[in-house]
Amino acid sequence: MSAHLENGELPRKIKRVGDHRPVNVVLGTQWGDEGKGKVVDMLAADADICCRCQGGNNAGHSVHVQDKHYAFHLLPSGVIYPSCKGVIGNGVVINLPDLFKEIEKNALDNLENRLVISDRSHLVFDLHQLVDGMLEDGRGHKLIGTTKKGIGPAYASKATRNGLRICDLLGDFVKFSEKFTHLVDHFKQMYPELIVDIDSDLTLYKELAERVRPMAKDTVSYLHTAILENKRILVECAQSTILDIDFGLYPYVTSSNCSVGGVCTGLGIPPHCVGEVYGVVKAYLTRVGSGGFPTELNNEQGELLQKRGGEFGVTTGRPRRCGWLDLAMLQYSNMINGFTGLAVTKLDILDVFEEIKVGVAYILNGEKLNTFPASDDDLRKVEVEYKTLPGWNTSTEHARKFSDLPLNAQRYVRTIESYIGVPVRWVGVGKDRDSIISIP
Ligand code: GTP
Repeated sequence: MSAHLENGELPRKIKRVGDHRPVNVVLGTQWGDEGKGKVVDMLAADADICCRCQGGNNAGHSVHVQDKHYAFHLLPSGVIYPSCKGVIGNGVVINLPDLFKEIEKNALDNLENRLVISDRSHLVFDLHQLVDGMLEDGRGHKLIGTTKKGIGPAYASKATRNGLRICDLLGDFVKFSEKFTHLVDHFKQMYPELIVDIDSDLTLYKELAERVRPMAKDTVSYLHTAILENKRILVECAQSTILDIDFGLYPYVTSSNCSVGGVCTGLGIPPHCVGEVYGVVKAYLTRVGSGGFPTELNNEQGELLQKRGGEFGVTTGRPRRCGWLDLAMLQYSNMINGFTGLAVTKLDILDVFEEIKVGVAYILNGEKLNTFPASDDDLRKVEVEYKTLPGWNTSTEHARKFSDLPLNAQRYVRTIESYIGVPVRWVGVGKDRDSIISIP
């Protein structure tokens, strides 16, 4: 009998990864464009690896570092730091030509050697973009307000199991060509007017295969090893909870899970490895495209928010609709994600208001709701119960400590905190990297 066995028992060898919860997450709490890029930039200073887990280049994260402005679409924002590795996970859909353009445009040090791309991630082809454009132009469908980057059609190919992945591209190219031709045929049956030059696309992808090959890996084992080595991992979710395909106002949603569940499915990280879940909350609310918006301001105040906040899409340039902060929505977002801390961004945009309202509850058919409506039709019908707070009418842009903020601005932040029951850890007061207040 082995010396290791005592009392006839078999030895147990248990190694549970992630007891120290090394994975922190940053995600949007509203309809996107909350300023997640800046929060990720701040947290990535202490991260070894920064990951994207869902979406594609329909995201647009802005980071301002002194005079330089970075606009990331597919790259995790943390790669700004030369020591930070970037991971694009299996849950992301990748337009390879656009990815390489983004790598070139941002000209970051040694980036191609610091970027790891999941061999399980799906490819977005030009044909997906063309189809997205046809859908968004109205061909008998609802206008969702997509960025026409082909993300929805690429996720549709994934779900119908005729999509192509990075591992297909790196395998037998003859098989890849057959599968690609099949995919084109599939879409042509639905959209006979679709024109695809198969030969020229395949020539392009043959070249791209060699360029992406050194970066492509099984990111599940890559991240598993990183967790065992106690590396600090930051996950940057794109879009936002109220745009989540399951929890958002379907069909006015994006095509992926951009709430906390997407971290596990989009990277292959076990839930018990997730530590902090930080929700980014814009101090007011914006929405792109059509659909209900209970706290919308269709007046001068809304225009002021749009102008001061620069509320125009990074990817599309489209103006965003603006309104007061909606705490009923934020409460719902917290139920899904279980935030451990909040970052309130763009507080400075509210600096000029005499009075500021926040929506605290929805009323539908005379009754206060304790849930968030599943349908956009119901959201259009709700009335909002507001709490009115005094404004501060002073610039907050130079505040660097919570106590530097005018009392009414402090009160505004504390109101958010007490309604949601989650600590506000940071307050953004300007675009720049250092325009942020940490609350211990
Ligand atoms: P999506 O994933 O597309 O939703 O992007 P995002 O959440 O990263 O938002 P976006 O990059 O569109 O950011 C919003 C803009 O606000 C950027 O230009 C940021 O530089 C800017 N910004 C971020 N925080 C603050 C802040 O506290 N104050 C001001 N004035 N601007 C900010």
